[in-house]
Amino acid sequence: MPIVKFVLPDGTEQPIDVPVGWSLMEAARREGIEGIVAECGGGAICGTCHVHVDPEHFSAIAAPDMSESALLQIVPDPSPTSRLSCQIIMTDSLAGMSVRIPVEQLML
Ligand code: FES
Repeated sequence: MPIVKFVLPDGTEQPIDVPVGWSLMEAARREGIEGIVAECGGGAICGTCHVHVDPEHFSAIAAPDMSESALLQIVPDPSPTSRLSCQIIMTDSLAGMSVRIPVEQLML
């Protein structure tokens, strides 16, 4: 099963198994990753699953739709590799990806 590494704002790394076909958010919630709140349950309307994707894997993720793109304009601490983890569907090509959780996510 592919592994994705979540990096907390303090640098703590938490690698988790993410089944192919699952969203990153679903796997993070299952594993209790701090900072992935996912208030809307994956509907791309809350922004509480925001992550910064490592640059090496960013282009391997399907492009965001209009809803996600709009929400990414207003999330706290946006970056050029910001994505909603509920919209990142795991594939084998994303194995080894690293995502950083913005510090604001821990204040929700
Ligand atoms: S869970 Fe709400 S936007 Fe991702």
